[in-house]
Amino acid sequence: MDPLDAAAAALARARSVVVLTGAGVSAESGVPTFRGPDGLWKNHRPEELATPQAFQQDPALVWEWYRWRQQVVSGCGPNPGHYALAALEELIEHFALVTQNVDGLHRRAGSRTVLELHGNLFQARCTREGTVRDFTAGDALPPHCECGAMLRPHIVWFGEPLDRLTIEEAFVCAQNADVCLVAGTSGVVAPASMIPMHAASHRAAVIEVNPHDTPLTGVARYALRGNSGEVLPRLVDEVRRRR
Ligand code: OAD
Repeated sequence: MDPLDAAAAALARARSVVVLTGAGVSAESGVPTFRGPDGLWKNHRPEELATPQAFQQDPALVWEWYRWRQQVVSGCGPNPGHYALAALEELIEHFALVTQNVDGLHRRAGSRTVLELHGNLFQARCTREGTVRDFTAGDALPPHCECGAMLRPHIVWFGEPLDRLTIEEAFVCAQNADVCLVAGTSGVVAPASMIPMHAASHRAAVIEVNPHDTPLTGVARYALRGNSGEVLPRLVDEVRRRR
């Protein structure tokens, strides 16, 4: 059987599905991925800017990068891959979409159960009080809270822990899943990359959608090679046909 048909059949049978997405699902929306040729910003690697140390050294530079990313994402919209995942949610009894993306495009496409593991680009947090607010960066960088302390992007940086409740919920969903659908992630950043392994070790069939092999390909029962904006709509159409 064609791998896409076989993957669709597994999804059509599933009562519980967990999806893990990464930057690749937003690539066709025009949002650059982190790794690869477009992953650099003014000669800085994301790994150099997305750290507490970088923020301590030069908060304005780090904010400038996030303001640029906010501007990029504001000019982009969800693509057919995002819409297909929102449609899939309506077909499955127990469904959770776990994303490493901070661009908010899944919600804009209509996905309802979204666990944002790495935070949200359009939120900021007070470095003193920890309070979170919706935020779009303006001219004055770095921005400050009313209390006088600096605001920081509400993003999980390298070396920082993820929100405990969010990651725990993601692992519970993985554990209960019949199918784990992984799309557009290089699978190199833990603990997100552990989610498909966890799902597989608890009997889930893993489906990978990516133009290239990744370290997660080894656990994938079905590897669908191609862009998520093309593969996911075909996959979900096929699931709908079989339900
Ligand atoms: P990466 O940039 O590491 O990987 C993007 C993946 O998407 C690669 O495997 C590509 O082959 C694949 N890809 C590219 N175009 C695609 C397309 N059109 N359709 C499907 N797949 C495509 O992004 P992530 O895996 O998301 O963390 O990176 C993980 C984390 O590292 C990010 O959340 C971010 C970064 O540092 C934080 O900011 C905390």
